[in-house]
Amino acid sequence: MQPSADSLQIGNYIGALLQWRDMQESHDAIFCVVDLHALTAPQDPAELRQQIRRTVAQYIAAGIDPEKSTLFVQSHVPAHAELAWVLDTITGFGEASRMTQFKDKSARQGTDAASVGLFAYPILMAADILLYDTKVVPVGDDQRQHIELTRDLAERFNARFGPTFVVPNAMIQGETARIYDLQNPTSKMSKSAASDAGVVWLLDDPSRTAKKIKSAVTDTGREVVFDRENKPGVSNLLTILSAFGGTPIPDLESEYSGRGYGDLKKDVAEVVVEVFSPIRARTLELLGDPAELDRILAPAADRANEIAEAKLAEVYDKIGL
Ligand code: ADP
Ligand code: NA
Repeated sequence: MQPSADSLQIGNYIGALLQWRDMQESHDAIFCVVDLHALTAPQDPAELRQQIRRTVAQYIAAGIDPEKSTLFVQSHVPAHAELAWVLDTITGFGEASRMTQFKDKSARQGTDAASVGLFAYPILMAADILLYDTKVVPVGDDQRQHIELTRDLAERFNARFGPTFVVPNAMIQGETARIYDLQNPTSKMSKSAASDAGVVWLLDDPSRTAKKIKSAVTDTGREVVFDRENKPGVSNLLTILSAFGGTPIPDLESEYSGRGYGDLKKDVAEVVVEVFSPIRARTLELLGDPAELDRILAPAADRANEIAEAKLAEVYDKIGL
């Protein structure tokens, strides 16, 4: 995840962190806060430094356990940038130009403002993945094309220079794992949303969280049913409630039959505040003790460096460096 804002939003929590927390029990999991990727949008140095720490603290507070997983910061492992350069040289200009996320983001930033770094973003992401012999990459649907490129680059390198990289598979969350903006429930909730009103931040205080959820856009009907097409706002609230409370959506529909949207919003606000309050408290506690965060990050960077340097050495050897 990019440290591209001060706080993670509820979609990052449901769509990513919840799965990651579970996967660390069954997998040798590696999580990387991608600060080099964050440089592809304008950043204030002091803010970026804070955002990196806050992102790490939120991962840990939400249940990523540094004892069970390797949790590190991308720029602490130089091999990411070095392998990215090698992969840049086997990526076609046209191939990189076809990445839809680049097209969207560069259109938003403007041709002059958009950097070569933004263009090469998916290739750095391929390096992030391939350095660790990664088998599965749990991502949202929006990352499908980037994982395809990563696979193509791994296969191309292996074919040219001999078996080197594991070809990774994407593990894509289902449609129900997608959370929409509360004020605009047909567009994805995002850290980079233009307005804050429809975004529930992990670090919002409880009254703000409750207020945002109670002001969520719904429709003029009364019935609480899951219907993405005609009731995107209600469907979004049901998705959040189901993810937080563990009750399947059809059961929630029966539970709310004959009751109004007000009840639904009240309950969603309650469960979100209940789950987020201790995470927020733990995050603030961790941020109050920078030495403790450094103690957690240093051995993780050592472990990541060990794996990544070995892979990079193998790559350099194969290509004649
Ligand atoms: P953002 O759009 O908030 O900047 P990122 O692009 O940094 O999020 O994505 C971080 C992770 O969170 C990815 O795995 C992504 O698929 C997931 N994610 C982001 N937004 C949502 C959302 N609204 N619903 C579900 N998952 C999301
Ligand atoms: Na993003």
